[in-house]
Amino acid sequence: MLKTVLAALTVGTVTALALTGCTSRSEAAASAAATGFPAHAVVGVALPDKTSENFAIAGKLFTDGLRRAGFTPDVQYAPATNTVAEQQNQIESMITNGAKVIIIGAKDGSQLSTQVADATAAGAVVIAYDRLILNTPNVDYYVAYDNERVGELQGQALLDGMKAKYPNNTSYNIELFAGSPDDNNAGVFFRGAMKVLQPKIDDGTLRVVSGQTDFKQVTTQGWLAQNAQSRMDTLLAGFYATTELDGVLSPNDTLARAILQSISTAGKPYPIVTGQDSEADSVKSIMAGIQYSTINKDTRKLVAEAIKMVGELQRGEKVDVNDPGSYDNGAKTVPTFLLPPQLVTRANAAQSYRGDPALEPLTRG
Ligand code: BGC
Repeated sequence: MLKTVLAALTVGTVTALALTGCTSRSEAAASAAATGFPAHAVVGVALPDKTSENFAIAGKLFTDGLRRAGFTPDVQYAPATNTVAEQQNQIESMITNGAKVIIIGAKDGSQLSTQVADATAAGAVVIAYDRLILNTPNVDYYVAYDNERVGELQGQALLDGMKAKYPNNTSYNIELFAGSPDDNNAGVFFRGAMKVLQPKIDDGTLRVVSGQTDFKQVTTQGWLAQNAQSRMDTLLAGFYATTELDGVLSPNDTLARAILQSISTAGKPYPIVTGQDSEADSVKSIMAGIQYSTINKDTRKLVAEAIKMVGELQRGEKVDVNDPGSYDNGAKTVPTFLLPPQLVTRANAAQSYRGDPALEPLTRG
């Protein structure tokens, strides 16, 4: 009997060790350090300030999802002021807390080199979330929606929306807005949109009446609504006293609503205005025929993808990426998992948000 128990124990131990590919306890520990980590480990999540609904909801999704997966989440937002320094401090505190993975939605992707180097030195894996971290070899993975594609979809939506709204026009008056210059995504969105719009500006189909077409001229510091609204006020007063504005490229929903607010305050008709993020107020506006489009980048899926990576790392498995070669951050090519964004207008809103408890009800009736 005793023999049988011992034999069973031995078989169990051998099986367990065989599963980890190791032959002794110390080897198992060493291997875990190199290729995996304990199931209850701390996972840090450093998010930027809440400049859009997607970041506002990501925090709870990470806390709940990581906890459900058995990890100990340490989720922190950068506050609205002194944001970069505070995010740097938060990442350092996650390292001190022994985080095995640190997921970062960068406030300023070019100012985290020291922190991610410290994370790497402490043995933590760094995952860039939604926004790429630049000019450092210490970013292990990137998980995001295809942000250049977001820009292309926005540019195409602007063109298609104006063609449908003004079928007799042969040319259109537009203005361009971009996001915050400290967010790498802002340039990526703008580049994607200009791939579609620049040829139409060159052939005269589109006229940027203000002449402001350079990224630097059209950015919106901090992604703040008031900055977009006051720039739109200035553009309307300076260039549209007697000229009709047909369309505005807006990089996200928060800014789209600010731009529409400015236009409404000036007593002008609503032009075609693009957006991004599927924010509830913008989905309502789209259904009311005011904002033209948004982009569906379901935050639940992006967070789930990041948590899936953490699980793979914990188990010492190969991390699943679907774009190993396109994302050069200036120091290395960062293996990436990309999700596809989707354009949403009034025509496909109900279908796009089917099953989304927050958005589907807004598309009815
Ligand atoms: C995100 C957008 C968001 C913007 C402002 C970007 O990095 O990709 O979804 O609208 O930040 O928060």
